[in-house]
Amino acid sequence: MQPTQQIQRFPWGTADDAQVLIVHFGSKSTPMIAQLLRHIGLRSRVIDAVDVPAVTASGYQPRLVILSGGDDSVANENAPTIADRDLATFVQHSVVLGICYGAQVLAVKFGGKVAAAAIPEFGEVQVQVTAPFGTYAGGTAVMNHNDEIVTLPTGWHVFASTAHCRHALVGTASIYAVMFHPEVDHSEHGDALLAHVAFTLAGCKPDYTYDLATYVDQCVTWLRHVVPAGDVELGLSGGVDSAVAFALARRAYGSRLHATFVDTGFMREGESEEVRGYFGSEGISYLEAADVFLEHIEALPYSGPGPVGEAQYYDQVRRAVGQCFIDTFVQHARQQGRAPVALVQGTNYADIIESMTNLKAHHNVGGLPARLEVTVVEPLAGLFKFEIRQLAAYLGLPDEVVYRQPSPGPGLAIRMWGPVTRAKTVALRRATRILEELVRQHYPDPRQRPSQYYLALAPLASCGLMGDDRVYGYAWVIRGVTTRDRESYVTVGAFEFSHAFLQDAARRLTNEVTMEDGTRFVRVFVEITGKPPSTTEPH
Ligand code: XMP
Repeated sequence: MQPTQQIQRFPWGTADDAQVLIVHFGSKSTPMIAQLLRHIGLRSRVIDAVDVPAVTASGYQPRLVILSGGDDSVANENAPTIADRDLATFVQHSVVLGICYGAQVLAVKFGGKVAAAAIPEFGEVQVQVTAPFGTYAGGTAVMNHNDEIVTLPTGWHVFASTAHCRHALVGTASIYAVMFHPEVDHSEHGDALLAHVAFTLAGCKPDYTYDLATYVDQCVTWLRHVVPAGDVELGLSGGVDSAVAFALARRAYGSRLHATFVDTGFMREGESEEVRGYFGSEGISYLEAADVFLEHIEALPYSGPGPVGEAQYYDQVRRAVGQCFIDTFVQHARQQGRAPVALVQGTNYADIIESMTNLKAHHNVGGLPARLEVTVVEPLAGLFKFEIRQLAAYLGLPDEVVYRQPSPGPGLAIRMWGPVTRAKTVALRRATRILEELVRQHYPDPRQRPSQYYLALAPLASCGLMGDDRVYGYAWVIRGVTTRDRESYVTVGAFEFSHAFLQDAARRLTNEVTMEDGTRFVRVFVEITGKPPSTTEPH
């Protein structure tokens, strides 16, 4: 099959001559920098660090250059960096702010020293401002570093410190280096810090507005322009991104649009019917493919137990679910006798920034466009999730969709330990439905719920007492996480479920769910680790 001919992205919110340039060194939180800039009214341009020479050579002079974080250590051979010439160009025309890895690149470039921190910091710390920095007054911030700036370049000042990191925010009048992550959701007042740097120090002027009516008008016109005729496909997942893409595409294409919802079997019991209730059946096919998916996944060789084996195994699971989805979708379009010319996807701006350095590889279940040989159309490519939710509400989608929590593409398949089996999946589907019922009952307003919540099945054989008998059974793990803006899962905190909710959950999950072979569930754990050091999903 030929690869995709073309990707069409609705241009929004970013510009080649934006006042702020973000140089991406690979950190997962780079999209959050662009997102926070939007919150304070600024558009930005994001480029991969390898493209810096071409961009500086083009003569573009942003007012502010932000160097993102990254996973490497500046001391490593081949660690990403910026050539002296390019850095000199930036410094000549712009204020430069380095964040974490970007801060370390700057410190080294200007003659400072970076080395392994005596006490590396991962997670929330308290920042004390030691010299005025606009309205930024410190507070909780997220650190995520092994290395630190041990010696400052000559002439640099300290603006803020933490208990273990004296050089937390340092710099000169036009170069700043911050070791914590002001952009992430669990850092307080990051907006004040960025606003001070962008508006006061770099002289940027607000240039981003988001008018929903304008967006819809322009986007629908654009959709018609990029695909003036022919059949258009769309995969509906029930999530907010694909729902909004669907609503826009339906306005643009009417009966030319064919949406498909695939029940992979790794969804909670009843989810497919619920999605049908939200969207109806006009122009949408609902495919029941649980058996096909389960058969494929059960056939995968299990390489666990142990951290390395489980990681390899669940990577395979992710890929296999993705592949199965593509096969099902493509086969269906062909069976219907369609030869589509375009595929509309709900890809958002954060996905695009992340894929610049293939960070999302382990999350990526893509590949569909390549199989369909179509033009891929991305009407939400310039929007962040918080903006997509605003659009969802504006377009009149039900609250349950507007505020719907994210769900990983592989669904429940990555919410267990050990090999994925039909028996575990059936129990997890049932239990997840109970959890959903309890959440709706105890937290009727979707805005009061955790940003994301789920159950994982832990085959941790342990003892319980049922009737007069001691029985050995398995356990459930409840996880609820919060993100302040409900969107950015780069950092998460634990949601505090009410005791009444937890008691109900413990009772119902142990009483009402049994494995097909009779194995009971005798324990319910609540997972309270933040990210970092943990992740949202167990795999
Ligand atoms: P982690 O577990 O990395 O997850 O903290 C961050 C966010 O991404 C979601 N997630 C996925 N989404 N395919 C997806 O489409 C995946 O394989 C996947 N894994 C994690 C996760 O639910 C959370 O919202």
